[in-house]
Amino acid sequence: METKAIATRPHCLVLSFPGQGHINPMIQFSKLLVHEGVKITLATTCFYSKTLQNVPPYISLESISDGFHNGGFGEAGTFKAYLGRFWQVGPPTLVDLIEKLAKLGNPIDCIIYDSVAPWALDVAKRFGIVGASYFTQNMAVNSIYYHVQLGKIKVPLIESEISLPSMPKLQLCDMPSFFHNCDDEDLALLGLVVGQFSNVDKADWVLCNSFYELDKEVTDWTTKIWPKFRTIGPNIPSVFLDKRIKDDEDYGAAAFKSEEECMEWLDNKPNGSVVYVSFGSLVPLDEEQMREIAYGLRDSNHYFLWVVRTSEEIKLPKDFAKKSEKGLVVTWCSQLKVLSHQSVACFVTHCGWNSTLESLSLGVPTIVVPQWSDQITNAKYMVDVWKVGIRVPINEKKIVKSEALRDCIKEMMECEKGKDMKNNAMQWKSLVLKAVSDGGGSSYENIMEFVNSLFTCSQ
Ligand code: UDX
Repeated sequence: METKAIATRPHCLVLSFPGQGHINPMIQFSKLLVHEGVKITLATTCFYSKTLQNVPPYISLESISDGFHNGGFGEAGTFKAYLGRFWQVGPPTLVDLIEKLAKLGNPIDCIIYDSVAPWALDVAKRFGIVGASYFTQNMAVNSIYYHVQLGKIKVPLIESEISLPSMPKLQLCDMPSFFHNCDDEDLALLGLVVGQFSNVDKADWVLCNSFYELDKEVTDWTTKIWPKFRTIGPNIPSVFLDKRIKDDEDYGAAAFKSEEECMEWLDNKPNGSVVYVSFGSLVPLDEEQMREIAYGLRDSNHYFLWVVRTSEEIKLPKDFAKKSEKGLVVTWCSQLKVLSHQSVACFVTHCGWNSTLESLSLGVPTIVVPQWSDQITNAKYMVDVWKVGIRVPINEKKIVKSEALRDCIKEMMECEKGKDMKNNAMQWKSLVLKAVSDGGGSSYENIMEFVNSLFTCSQ
């Protein structure tokens, strides 16, 4: 990558939580910073850093310990244990890393830390360096958490209408999943997640992987509370958006290997004829849900490309072929290339924040099947606010039945409503392109304000 030759290039340490949905936006933002002349060291946990493939050569990769020796999330068993250990062991090993880099004559000027690691700000302050909190998820969801912090939403929540400034009326069922159950594990996790706001207002910068046009009023409201709050997204590879960085076709740092054969499979399908289905890098579905999705796709009688991670394959129904006349199941794909392929008509998604941003950025309407965490609220926005999604009804066991999925696919693929969703998605695509444009786009301007401050502080 060509970078601007500058005598004293500021050096940022980017600290990512060990998960594909966190590292993707952070490594993408890192590429933009390198493009503007900033030096980047990417740090994540020892175990996770060993699994990452094709990290860009101009980003040096370092690791800190999370106390898991060989198993990462698998060894932890639960998300809370995984997050909790990252909180306990992270700080001392981050201090060791900063001291090591300083001794090597490569001192850090700024830590850009994943917002689920608020302890990184304390470490930054200890070294007198800039601390920038980076929200890899949508600010609207985070502003809900902020309301929890301000005590405006009582936890455990009771069934009530929750109205936040200019946000849609949210029922309890629209809130992130750990608001619903509120058993000890969930409350503890909620405490951890809300804790991420424990010191955000003390951060030098609060950066968010979203864009101004997506949440104008809520962004304005949040910037009143956090004056250094800036939307800097979508952080998606350049070839799909601003084409600013040559050959930047994928995030890099993939923990999974793509099955590229699906691209040839897509090439042989008519334009707008394929339903793409993926539940991200973390969500485990149970066997009953896998069965219902499999039969719903088959019975829709439309072409479908379904990502079923290796760990999930065992749950597929025995009579369901991974390759059939209408369908192809792969363990992983280059989702951005798939979503921008002309044969893909819509996206059955769990509404992880990256998948949400990618569908908006590439103008692909969605059929929403949220599972946990922020996905619940992201789905609410896609359907009721941004009008790009159709929600699949769930039964009393929170399972999507095959006939419900089949009917939503038919509605999207064969009815007027699907055409409306597609038109709306294309309008969001143009707003994304405007936000990232170096011709005055909101996200571009915010990124440059941050970059210029780095050069000032490193002089
Ligand atoms: C996790 C949480 O589950 C999610 O709720 C939160 O918003 C972000 O962190 P994940 O579940 O992995 O994310 O979903 P998502 O945010 O959509 O990220 C998945 C990433 O993997 C996307 O960037 C997507 O493009 C990529 N992907 C997914 C592939 O490249 N290939 C695939 O086959 C599937």
